[in-house]
Amino acid sequence: MYCTRPVTKDIVWIGGNDRRLALFENLFPIPRGVSYNSYLILDEKTALMDTVDASIGRQFFENIEQTLQGRPLDYLIVNHMEPDHCANIEELTRRYPDMKIVGNRRTIELIKQFYDFEVQPHVHCVEEGDTLCLGTHTLQFIFAPMVHWPEVMMAYETSEHILFSADAFGSFGAVGGTIFQDELHFDRDWLDDARRYYSNIVGKYGPQVQAVLKKASALDIKAICPLHGPVWRGDLGYFLNKYDLWSRYEPEDRGVAIFYGSMYGDTANAADLLAAQLAEAGVKDVRVYDVSCTHVSYLIAEAFRCSHLVFAAPTYNNGLYPAMETLLLDMKALNLQNRTVGLIENGSWAPQSGRLMREMLGQMKDMHILETSVTIKSSLKKDQFSDMQGLCRQIVDTL
Ligand SMILES: Cc1cc2nc3c(=O)[nH]c(=O)nc-3n(C[C@H](O)[C@H](O)[C@H](O)COP(=O)(O)O)c2cc1C
Ligand SMILES: [Fe+2]
Ligand SMILES: [Fe+2]
Repeated sequence: MYCTRPVTKDIVWIGGNDRRLALFENLFPIPRGVSYNSYLILDEKTALMDTVDASIGRQFFENIEQTLQGRPLDYLIVNHMEPDHCANIEELTRRYPDMKIVGNRRTIELIKQFYDFEVQPHVHCVEEGDTLCLGTHTLQFIFAPMVHWPEVMMAYETSEHILFSADAFGSFGAVGGTIFQDELHFDRDWLDDARRYYSNIVGKYGPQVQAVLKKASALDIKAICPLHGPVWRGDLGYFLNKYDLWSRYEPEDRGVAIFYGSMYGDTANAADLLAAQLAEAGVKDVRVYDVSCTHVSYLIAEAFRCSHLVFAAPTYNNGLYPAMETLLLDMKALNLQNRTVGLIENGSWAPQSGRLMREMLGQMKDMHILETSVTIKSSLKKDQFSDMQGLCRQIVDTL
C-alpha cells in the first residue's frame, strides 16, 4: 500500500523509512532508524527528486505509481549519486523508458561507475545555474561540490521557493508520519541526531558548506526538502543557523564534554571528580563519556556541540589508549577545530598519554590546550585534589 504525504499541492513526499538497519554506511548506529526522502513534482512534466535506498524499493515504487496516477515520469533529478538515493535508477528506466536522468557531468560518470545499464540515452546534463521548466514549476540547479560528494547539487524550485538540498539539512532517524518540522519537537527529539548526522557525514567539509550557505542566502527559500529526516517548511533560520555554526566549527553551546578511557576505573574516577568539581562551580552543561562505551559518532557530535573538551586517558603499550586514539583521529579527520581543551593522563610506570594527546591535538587547527594538565600515576591521590581543582578553575574561567 502506498504511503505518501503532500508537501504542497503539486509536490508529494514519496519516501520511506528503514528501522531495521543497525549501522548507516555500515558504521553509524541508528537506533531511531533512517528515512530516505524522495519527492515527486506533478506539473505539465513530472519530475522525481532522487530515489531511495534498495531496502525500501517496494514502498517507493508503490508510492510513485499511486502519485503519478498512470502518467509517465518525465525526469529523474539526481542531486546526489550515493547508493542510498540511487539504488532504483535502473528499475526506473525499465518502468519509464522515456525518462530523462538529470545530473551534471560528474553525476553521469558516477552512475556509469556504479551501474551497468545503458545510461546515455537517458542523459540530460546540466551546468550550474541551468534551469529545467516543468510547466508552472521551474528547477534551478545549484552545485554543492563536496557536500559531501563531488557531484552533489541542489535544485531550487522557483515558483514555490523550495530547496531540494540533497544530504545537507538531513538527519538520522525514521520519520513517523510527522514529516514536517512544525509537526514534531525538533529541539527535543531530532537535534542530537541531526548534529550527529552533520558532524560525522558532512563535518569535514565546513568550507564547502559555507560556500553553499552563501549561495542559498541569495535565494528566497520557503521550504527545505532534504534526503533524510524532517522537511522544513518554516523556522528555516533556526536550522540554517545551526549549519552556519557547525560549518564554521563554532561551538553551539558553552559547555564541557569530558571524554575518558579507563581499564580499571581510575581515569574514570578523575573524569567524574572533575565533572563534580565543575558542577559544584556552577557549570550546568557538563557531560561525561566513556570512549569505550559510547560509539565514537556520538562523541564527535558532542565535540562539535561543546566549547570545552576534556580528554582523560591511560597510557597503553607506550601509546595512547586505543579508543581515545580513535576519537582523536576521527576529530582530526573531520576537521574539528577551535576548542578549549583540558588533558588528564594516566600511566603506572611511564605515562605518555598526555604528550601523545597533545601531539594529536596539535595537528588540529586552533585547539587551545589549558596550561594545567593532570598526571595520574595509577590512581588519583588526595594531594592531587588541588591539581584537579586547578584544571576545573581554568575551565570555568574560560567558559
Ligand atoms: C595492555 C596495557 C598496556 C599498558 N601500557 C602502559 C605503558 O606503556 N606505560 C604506562 O605507564 N602504563 C601502561 N599501562 C598501565 C595503565 O596505563 C595504568 O595502569 C593506568 O593507571 C590505568 O588507568 P585506569 O585505572 O583508568 O584503567 C598499561 C596497561 C595495560 C593493560
Ligand atoms: Fe550522501
Ligand atoms: Fe544520504
